[in-house]
Amino acid sequence: MGGHGVVCLLLLLQVLAAASAGGGRWQEFLRLPSDSDERSDGTRWALLIAGSSGYYNYRHQADVCHAYQIMKKGGLKDENIVVMMYDDIAHSPDNPRPGIIINHPTGADVYAGVPKDYTGNDVNPNNFLAVLLGNRSALTGSGSGKVISSGPNDHVFVYYADHGGPGVLGMPGEEEVYLYANDVVKALKKKHEGKGYKSLVMYVEACESGSIFEGLLPSDIGVYATTASNAEESSWGTYCPGDDVGAPPPEYDTCLGDLYSVAWMEDADAHHNTRTAPETLRQQYAAVRDRTSANGTYVFGSHVMQYGDLALAPQSLDLYYMDTSTTSTSADVDEYLGVRGSANQRDADLVYMWRKYRKSREGTAEKAEARERLLREMARRSRLDTTVEKITGELMIGRRQFIRRRAAGQAVVDDWDCLKSMVRAYEMHCGSLGQYGMRHMRSFADVCNAGVQHHQMAEAASQACTTLLPNW
Ligand SMILES: *[C@@H]1O[C@H](CO)[C@@H](O)[C@H](O)[C@H]1NC(C)=O
Ligand SMILES: *[C@@H]1O[C@H](CO)[C@@H](O)[C@H](O)[C@H]1NC(C)=O
Repeated sequence: MGGHGVVCLLLLLQVLAAASAGGGRWQEFLRLPSDSDERSDGTRWALLIAGSSGYYNYRHQADVCHAYQIMKKGGLKDENIVVMMYDDIAHSPDNPRPGIIINHPTGADVYAGVPKDYTGNDVNPNNFLAVLLGNRSALTGSGSGKVISSGPNDHVFVYYADHGGPGVLGMPGEEEVYLYANDVVKALKKKHEGKGYKSLVMYVEACESGSIFEGLLPSDIGVYATTASNAEESSWGTYCPGDDVGAPPPEYDTCLGDLYSVAWMEDADAHHNTRTAPETLRQQYAAVRDRTSANGTYVFGSHVMQYGDLALAPQSLDLYYMDTSTTSTSADVDEYLGVRGSANQRDADLVYMWRKYRKSREGTAEKAEARERLLREMARRSRLDTTVEKITGELMIGRRQFIRRRAAGQAVVDDWDCLKSMVRAYEMHCGSLGQYGMRHMRSFADVCNAGVQHHQMAEAASQACTTLLPNW
């Protein structure tokens, strides 16, 4: 940290020296953060949300904390940034650096200063939508009450990091854990109708995140979105234990970030640090797409997608969160470059459990417990996969023709209420799908697309789960 201070000071001195040599026109490129807030083109807002909890999901909250630091560097005011995160990482007993969160193997703390607007179970779909819509009276719980009360000249940036599945994003609480794609898009349309922004950019990191917008997000409501993956593939964690390149320090048994997320954030940091010409949305998309593709191999990588109003792509990121004219950061860019190893998002928690097991001392109760936990979780997943496959398989008998590939660009499902009710019917009898089980959302969607009725799902689930899984 001390080192950073020194670098900062040196940079500032260099800038001042260069400025006076160039005839004192330093205001042109040394703009103080406070100057950049008052934009003639409106206020900049950011909504940052991590949808998971648990130390094994360290990376999502680390991503969101890092994003907050980028917003601050870019000159946004705290009153215009809303952070939603469970907040159980920094002070987790598993955290080797108490009170500190990092998002890169050699990275500095990103937790300091992060506002705790909504934490714990207050991070839920209702509050996310209320915050996005700027509707204070729809909030529940005990959050800060901050919402995105943006107006027609404002620019809004939304970033979400977590697990997902076809048509759905996860939330960390105990009760409402699914944020469905149609509700996200409905809220965006409503905000547009209410003249709640001039333009809005949304970045989504999750498995199958393309399905949140594909066939759903209109191109004429001033929203530009990119996603970590297409509608049919996993997204990837990164800086994971055991990676050949970019492994975290040995005391960390968990992945420190997600590939798409660190790609856009390290790209942003690099631009802040070098104060190069402002980047456009399109340029950042291209950089992130290339890095997330794992050099075009898509092995441990995914297809970054863009949706919505692509005419916004030439916009400068300065409109949202960049401020390439500030001098507040170190010039240490090298550490940010290159592609690192990754773990499939859904398996990243198994990596954590496996590491715990490997590291515990032979013959101790801790080792036995870690082994139990890992085996239990693997068995649970295998049972869940079998159960969903059995139930949806039976319901689809004679209806296969309905799932033959929906046309590219079509949403996962037409009737979202049907999808929600199928999931509820399943969960009532078989227990929660949870963050792992969201991968099966497409099977539930297929069942709806094929015209299966709610009571048929309820019967099938009841039968399968009372016989297969007495102690779920
Ligand atoms: C805000 O939320 C409340 C409660 O859900 C709802 O009754 C009201 O219509 C919402 N206001 C707007 C402007 O959407
Ligand atoms: C990607 O390509 C670069 C440059 O060719 C190389 O240095 C790097 O190791 C490659 N990364 C992967 C994951 O293959």
